[in-house]
Amino acid sequence: MKVSASFLSCSNPAVDLAKLNETDVDFIHVDIMDGKFVSNKTMPFSEMKNISKYTSKRLDVHLMVENPKEYIPLYAELNTEYITIHVEIDEDIMECLELIKRYSIKAGLSIKPNTKVSELIPYLPYIDMILVMSVEPGAGGQAFIEESEDRINEVRALLDSYNIPAVINVDGGINGDTVKRCKNCDIVTSGSYIVKSDNFQEKISSLR
Ligand code: DX5
Ligand code: ZN
Repeated sequence: MKVSASFLSCSNPAVDLAKLNETDVDFIHVDIMDGKFVSNKTMPFSEMKNISKYTSKRLDVHLMVENPKEYIPLYAELNTEYITIHVEIDEDIMECLELIKRYSIKAGLSIKPNTKVSELIPYLPYIDMILVMSVEPGAGGQAFIEESEDRINEVRALLDSYNIPAVINVDGGINGDTVKRCKNCDIVTSGSYIVKSDNFQEKISSLR
């Protein structure tokens, strides 16, 4: 299992990113919130760019924003492996995915806990990752929604039935227990479980 670490809940992101850099974590999950798609708002790009200097890990950028086209060119500048947008936004999803691809970055599509998995179908041939939200997006430190296990399995069945090689990532409330319900995932994203602990590597290893 690959692990992506979210630093949303860090009190000092620069220090914790430097600490995460000493672990074998696969990706740094960068949560971006615009105060519209979700009510919280994260730091501006200039600040994010500054603190990204503290890591040499590839970034897994999660755009919880109404207008991804404003953000994609900015985050494409960083050491980015994936940029993920939400299927629920009122924008042209295909145009956003194409924009991500234009930067030779892998495109992800995320789905909230109450959105039908079938909404993903039109975009399957164009995406490299599906990010299954196992909490309502907007904040770190929430509890894993139990139904997420079935949703992950449903997404896996969908990918198999269309023969799509995209990977599955799950985000929200992931810890040493809830990860057991995510066996059909390729990547797990975990925030507070890792960064609120005093041994980042131990927690990361427990998720693999
Ligand atoms: C929620 C974010 C998640 C969150 C994960 O809106 O997308 O990435 O930071 O944090 P934990 O693991 O604490 O739920
Ligand atoms: Zn996230």
